[in-house]
Amino acid sequence: MVIASRVWNEIKANLSSAKVYLKEFLFFNTILIFILFFLIETKIILSTLIFLILFFNLVFLNAIGYKRNKELNAIKSVISGIRRNIFNLPEDIKLSYNLHSLQEEIQQMFEKERSDIEYLKKLERIRTEFLANVSHELRTPIFAIQGYIETLLDGAINDDRVNKNFLDKANQHTINLSNLLNDLIDISMIESGEMRMSYRYFNINDYINQIIQEMMPLAKEKKIELIYHPAGEGLQLFGDKARLKQAFVNLITNAIKYTEQGKVEVLIEEEQKHGKIIIRDTGIGIPPEDINRIFERFYRVDKARSRDIGGTGLGLAIVKHIIEAHNSKIEVKSELGVGSEFSFRLKK
Ligand SMILES: Nc1ncnc2c1ncn2[C@@H]1O[C@H](COP(=O)(O)OP(=O)(O)OP(=O)(O)O)[C@@H](O)[C@H]1O
Ligand SMILES: [Mg+2]
Repeated sequence: MVIASRVWNEIKANLSSAKVYLKEFLFFNTILIFILFFLIETKIILSTLIFLILFFNLVFLNAIGYKRNKELNAIKSVISGIRRNIFNLPEDIKLSYNLHSLQEEIQQMFEKERSDIEYLKKLERIRTEFLANVSHELRTPIFAIQGYIETLLDGAINDDRVNKNFLDKANQHTINLSNLLNDLIDISMIESGEMRMSYRYFNINDYINQIIQEMMPLAKEKKIELIYHPAGEGLQLFGDKARLKQAFVNLITNAIKYTEQGKVEVLIEEEQKHGKIIIRDTGIGIPPEDINRIFERFYRVDKARSRDIGGTGLGLAIVKHIIEAHNSKIEVKSELGVGSEFSFRLKK
C-alpha cells in the first residue's frame, strides 16, 4: 500500500514536471487521432488505438517527466551546494552528460564569483591594513610632540640646556606629521582618480637642472655629489611637469637619504620613441627580498632607520602611481652595499 502510494506520487510528480511538453503532445495526438479517424472505419479498432495512444502518451510523459525531474534536482543540488560552500574547485561541480554545457557555465560562474569574493576580501584586508598603518604613523609624531610639550610645561622650558632642543625636536615632528598628511592626501587623490593630470611637451634638460638646483643643499648637507648628465640639446619629453617633479624629488631624496657616501646621478638615455630617465646612487642598496615590496604603501626596508630620517614609506607608492599615470613603469635594480638605480621612460 505504502509502495503503491509512493509510486503513484512519483508518477504524479513526473507528469506534473512533464506538463511543459503537454501542448506539443496534444498537438501531435490531435493530428494522429484525426488521421486515424479517416483511415480506420471499424469503431472498435479505432477506440482501441486511441486508448493505446493515450496510454503510451502517459508512459512517455512519465518517462520524460522523470528525466526532467532528475536533471532539475541535480541542478538544484549544485546550486544549493554552491550556496553552502561545499565545492572547493570548479571541477567538483558535476552534472549529467546532457547538461555538459550548463555544467561549464556554472563552473565559470562559480570561478568568477570566487575570484570576485577573493578580490573583495583582499581590498578589505588592504583597507584595514592601511587604516592601521595610518593610525600608527600618526600616533608616533603626535605622541612625541605631546611628550616634548608636556616636559617643557612641567618646567623644562626654564632649563636653557634642553628647552631649545625639545622645541626643535617637537618642530621636526610637526614637519614629519605635515609631510605624512600631504602624502596621504596625494595618495587618496591619486587612488580615487581625482588627480587631474596636465600633459605637455617640455625641455627635459632645463626641467631637471632646476630640480637638481633645488635638491643641491640636501646633497651638500650629506657631502654627496649630485650630478646631472644632460640629454641631447633640446630634447622634449611628454608629461605632467608638476606631478613628475613630485616623482623626481621623491626619487632623488631617497637616493640621497639612503646613500652614506659617494654620488647620486641623474641620466637620460635617448631611445627611439622615449627618453629613459635613470636615478642612480652609490648607497646602501635594497635587499633582493624587499625589492618587489618597496612600492607598497608604508613599506620600508628598515622601519626604525627610515623613521629616524623622517620616512613614512609613502614616497615610492606615490612615485609608482605618477609614473603609471604616464603609461610608463618604474623599474629598479639594486645591489646591497653597492647602490640602487631607479628608472622609467617618458614619451618623446
Ligand atoms: N635609493 C634607495 N636606496 C636604498 N633603499 C631605498 C632607496 N629608495 C627607497 N629605498 C627603500 O625603500 C623604502 C620605501 O621608500 P619610500 O620612498 O616609499 O619611503 P621612505 O623614503 O621610507 O619614506 P617617505 O614616505 O618619506 O618617502 C625605504 O624605506 C627604503 O628602505
Ligand atoms: Mg622616500
